Amino acid sequence: MQRRPFIGGNWKMNTDLASGAALAQALGAASVNALSSIDVVVFPPFPYLQSVGRALNATAIALGAQDLSSEANGALTGEVSAEMLTDLGVTWVLVGHSERRHRLGESEALVAEKFAMALASGLCAVLCVGETLEERKAGRAHEVVVRQLESALHGLSADSLREIVVAYEPVWAIGTGVAATATDAHEAHREIRSFVSSRYDSELASGIRIVYGGSLVPGNAKTIFAEPGVDGGLVGGASLKAGDFLSICSAAAIGIATG
Ligand code: 13P
Repeated sequence: MQRRPFIGGNWKMNTDLASGAALAQALGAASVNALSSIDVVVFPPFPYLQSVGRALNATAIALGAQDLSSEANGALTGEVSAEMLTDLGVTWVLVGHSERRHRLGESEALVAEKFAMALASGLCAVLCVGETLEERKAGRAHEVVVRQLESALHGLSADSLREIVVAYEPVWAIGTGVAATATDAHEAHREIRSFVSSRYDSELASGIRIVYGGSLVPGNAKTIFAEPGVDGGLVGGASLKAGDFLSICSAAAIGIATG
């Protein structure tokens, strides 16, 4: 099945009001020619969603948020609801990023609640999974990723999952400059797809997009995207430079091998 390549730019807690808008403008100006065959989404910090959204207006680049509350509304100081995000024109949201799981202590149960909330609210969700170095060294990488998937997908129908993206982001590759090898990424993506097939069906498994994240740069994107089953990437550091991000987008547009 032909899957449309997906590239996300996760800006994390970077940029300021002016530089965020300038980055979005630079990407927007380039999007018309270069990006029509792939889905490109940027995930700026919450306070800049509106200005980045304005800069991306009428471009092919979609607006995403880095997180959302598991609750619809109410007395939850500091939280941001799905409805607030959609109000701002946000169409995508990251759920379960490793920095939220490991640095901010988000449990698998909370990730599952947020994921269900995103889907119920009509947001497209990127579910992030991935093992730590310790888990990998102990030979538990596959088990950890499957546990994260099982927990987040529990109780959700195949129909509700058709538009989701799963991001395989091994924790040891995030922000370290050491990306997974193309073979590692291929293997992990194959396992994720096979889990979806056994839990749901082969139709969902062959349609679902699975992207790689962790030290993706223009220099390694082409090789990683050439692996069958890698449908694009979630980019951190390199998404903060328009030229690098666009070059990764072009690599996806040209070189994704689906299957
Ligand atoms: P880096 O590309 O900076 O390693 O970050 C990856 C990531 O966490 C994307 O969500």
